[in-house]
Amino acid sequence: MNRVDGPLKATGRATYAYEHWEAGQPLYGFIVGATIGKGRITRIDTEDAERAPGVQLVMTYLNTPEQGPRDESIPFEYWRAQPVLTGPDIHYYGEPVALVVAEALEEARAAADLVEVEYRAGRGRFDFGEFEDVYIPKTVNAGLPTDTAVGDFDAGFAGAEVKVDQQYTTPYEFSLPIEPNACMAEPRGEDLVIYVSCQITDAARDSVASTLRMAPERVHILAPFVGGGFGSKLGIHSETILAAFAARTLRRPVKVAMTRQQVFQLVGMRPTSSQRVRLGAGRDGRLSAIAHDVTMHTNPDIEYAEQTAATTRSLYAAPHRLTSHRLTALDLPRGTDVRAPGEAPGMLTVESAMDELADTLRMDPVELRIRNEPTVDPERDVPYSDRHLVDCLREGARRFGWENRPATPASVRDGQWLIGYGMSAAIRGHFQGPTAVRVRLETDGTAVIQTDMTDIGTGTYTILTQVGAEGLGLPLERVRIELGRSDHPTSWGSGGSWGATNSCTAVHRACMTLREKLLDTARDDARSPLHGLDPANAVFSDGNVGIDGASEPLGEIVARNHPEGVEAEGRTLFMGDDPNYSAYSINTYGATFAEVGVDADTAEVRLRRMLGVYSVGRVFNPKTARSQLIGGMIWGVGAALEEEAVVDPRSGAFVNRDFAGYLVPVHADIPDVDVVVLEGYDDKANVLGAKGLGEVGICGSGASVANAVFNATGVRVRDFPITIEKLL
Ligand code: MOS
Repeated sequence: MNRVDGPLKATGRATYAYEHWEAGQPLYGFIVGATIGKGRITRIDTEDAERAPGVQLVMTYLNTPEQGPRDESIPFEYWRAQPVLTGPDIHYYGEPVALVVAEALEEARAAADLVEVEYRAGRGRFDFGEFEDVYIPKTVNAGLPTDTAVGDFDAGFAGAEVKVDQQYTTPYEFSLPIEPNACMAEPRGEDLVIYVSCQITDAARDSVASTLRMAPERVHILAPFVGGGFGSKLGIHSETILAAFAARTLRRPVKVAMTRQQVFQLVGMRPTSSQRVRLGAGRDGRLSAIAHDVTMHTNPDIEYAEQTAATTRSLYAAPHRLTSHRLTALDLPRGTDVRAPGEAPGMLTVESAMDELADTLRMDPVELRIRNEPTVDPERDVPYSDRHLVDCLREGARRFGWENRPATPASVRDGQWLIGYGMSAAIRGHFQGPTAVRVRLETDGTAVIQTDMTDIGTGTYTILTQVGAEGLGLPLERVRIELGRSDHPTSWGSGGSWGATNSCTAVHRACMTLREKLLDTARDDARSPLHGLDPANAVFSDGNVGIDGASEPLGEIVARNHPEGVEAEGRTLFMGDDPNYSAYSINTYGATFAEVGVDADTAEVRLRRMLGVYSVGRVFNPKTARSQLIGGMIWGVGAALEEEAVVDPRSGAFVNRDFAGYLVPVHADIPDVDVVVLEGYDDKANVLGAKGLGEVGICGSGASVANAVFNATGVRVRDFPITIEKLL
């Protein structure tokens, strides 16, 4: 099935946050950022800016209304207040110091240049490599434990016949969706309507309400279409808070969007990391000891630790194990969730280390992984719900032609190109959060599905249409979806690869409840042809319900008995309250294979082809699933070869904060990527048997490219990304 919102998007009728005109002519805000990375504002003069053409308001810390504080007792960052312009202190380069609001965007931008700010610059901590001091975070992202230890790692590693002990580094990386962070805030009486590009409308509402000290029910978030997120829109950012304050002050709609450079400065990034991976094995390749120790940067005010070593805990069998996460505080923007937080950089290094072990053992890397397949989750000591990693490895090797891999590195050439094959395993946890949806059946036999869930480009509209139609036995065109409104039932939004399964499961449950209501109604309704018949034999199909040869359109049952329509809610539990999550290790799996060519003279790396084979339970829609997985794999290519933001150690500014300097793969970099999804159904994950697949594609895929570069050249680069100068 094609995307139901495809025609709207292709014709420009899908309305994004900055494009709403319902409230009439808006004002435009432009953010002024600090030009130092650490220090204090000593003078701020807004007079010239205020007198500039069209300017309605200049906000600085001197005139911003009182804001609610970030409340650390709220379990997730994205639901907390996000105060901005809080005082004269500067915490990172580019931090907002003013908002200029004018009748036209050009006027706001021009007047922003007239805001005069003087600073006293302090000595900042900007360079990750320079500092050795670390501290231990209380937990890592998603509430996972900071450290784990099983068995006796030191003894296990000391006694191993073959060892790998390597240090890897990964850079700052950014979520850079097509649509930059943007908001329009519209005052409506005492209420605020906020059109914002966000992944979790419930979090956006709470965050706006607590920052502006408003009652949450007075804040209405609307996010019907979102142009990508990748973590950068899990929470709202300064553009939303500033637009909301300005709109309330001026009593007019105000739009604020970030420029691309501001996205780099204000939204947060994947922390840079230094990772030590130790693998101890016997000559047969069986691992006896695994350790994964991670140090990464954090902003000192907003602690964030990616779960970089978390996937290592469930990946391979080994009796002796250690994982740890440490933080180094730097005066840089906050670290934040960037697609496959922790899992992506963690799998990149661990799966590189596994390739180093295979090379040391002179063993096929696929075979090495199969030999270390665990029977139970080795740290939690619980069974896997439905683990098919070995199937992915075998199927991928067969389809890719892995047997043609050059056995010796740097041994195969195709003209100018050194040819190499690489592979990697992938694993990622499956998460579940509290989500509610409402399904209404109208008297005309159409269904409406309502939830505050978002579609961030992933396909939510489409799969909810499918699951709703299947659940009620309706033709697809009789199901309508309303998403992205915080006044609808509350979901956990889009993120963490949980959106599809949460919302589809909740829709399915609502449909099952509606079926029961309809059958009870019909059985008791003397005017129904189904009157008195046994609902156990009911079949819902093509808009009708049939029992033992009798049949009636759903709309007629509703019209006769529920003239206002009939509705039901479906819900999912927070994973901590779902017994399957403690009884089983629930994950998705994959194997990626890559072939690269490396220019023998210039060391230019070209991906030649790539294959991913995944096991993700049941798939709702092969087309949207394939797009998600390919997108993740391509991000892996970027992590291996291109993506890296570089900090100026003098100022703390990112020097390459645009698409000219911060490279991501483009079409010319990606010649041939294929995806195969194994048939599956994980009955421990949910009643639909489906698991989230948004992030498993980026887990491990980078390592398959890195390992192919080694196979082509014999050069092992442990400082990502693998750029030309590191290979020469
Ligand atoms: Mo994803 S980093 O959970 O949006």
